[in-house]
Amino acid sequence: MRKIIATSIRNLYVASSILAPVTMLDFYPAICTLFIVTLHNVNNIYMELFMKNALGNLVGIPPRNRKINLDSKYVDCYYKNNPYLTTFWNCLSLLFPQGEKFFVDSVKNYRDKITNDKLLAEISGFIGQESFHSREHLSLNDLIQNSGINVDIFDADLKFILDIARKLPPSWQLAATCALEHYTGIMGHQLLEDSKHNSNILYEYHNLWIWHAIEECEHKAVSYDVYKQVSNSYLLRVIIMLAASVVFFAVVANFYLRMLWQKKLTNPIMILDAVIYLSNLFKDLIPNYLEYFKPNFHPSFEDSSVLIAQWSYKLGFYTPH
Ligand SMILES: [Fe+2]
Ligand SMILES: [Fe+2]
Repeated sequence: MRKIIATSIRNLYVASSILAPVTMLDFYPAICTLFIVTLHNVNNIYMELFMKNALGNLVGIPPRNRKINLDSKYVDCYYKNNPYLTTFWNCLSLLFPQGEKFFVDSVKNYRDKITNDKLLAEISGFIGQESFHSREHLSLNDLIQNSGINVDIFDADLKFILDIARKLPPSWQLAATCALEHYTGIMGHQLLEDSKHNSNILYEYHNLWIWHAIEECEHKAVSYDVYKQVSNSYLLRVIIMLAASVVFFAVVANFYLRMLWQKKLTNPIMILDAVIYLSNLFKDLIPNYLEYFKPNFHPSFEDSSVLIAQWSYKLGFYTPH
């Protein structure tokens, strides 16, 4: 019976999400709210996913269940037809499934302490979005594995680091998530904004990275807003940012060079060329990175809403705001 109810409501939900942008009527949030009230006591995995989607939609953080079919023959060269640069983005992809699970868990640690309904809905949207990102990056990581990279070794190394991080106090873990979500937020904004950058990503891989960038921009403030409510220590926030930055760049550099080695991409001039290109990308991020150290910082200092709307339109996404 519960399954029938769930299926019926899901169909209504899908119908409302299709109709809303067509009819331009504002009943979509109302329908979502009605479903949420109706399903208040229903508890299973499917319904939890549904609830995240409904709640996320209400606050502009819709988890979009994108299944992107990536062609394995381009896995080595989808960025600028350059395997040295492509390996860098593949290196980031290796970090996402475990890294985003850590982000989600660090926020979940505090979910029971949040009383603000809007922030609770944003947390649901954040968890839903990160879950779909992890699933799609796992698919990409399978292709990376098949292309000759020993992904299991990198997974084990990352697990070792994150297991240490999980032993830290929950407020430190949340501060680390705020720091790294600042990275994904400003990198996502850059990817959407810089046409030289985003036009370099080819084939279906462009859909994957742009979709991920849109959603990183949409939920970039969630962990920070949780942190502001439950801890709000400026000193802890900036110390953890400095530590997280050191660890992040050390891990990325280590993984990237080892991946190049495994792929036998050892031409020093090509490596230097790729490192200069990537350094310029990161150099452009420095002003936005430094914003984090202002006492009154908030991730919304950089408005991504126009970029989100433009790219959502181009990719045919439904966007509630
Ligand atoms: Fe993500
Ligand atoms: Fe994120």
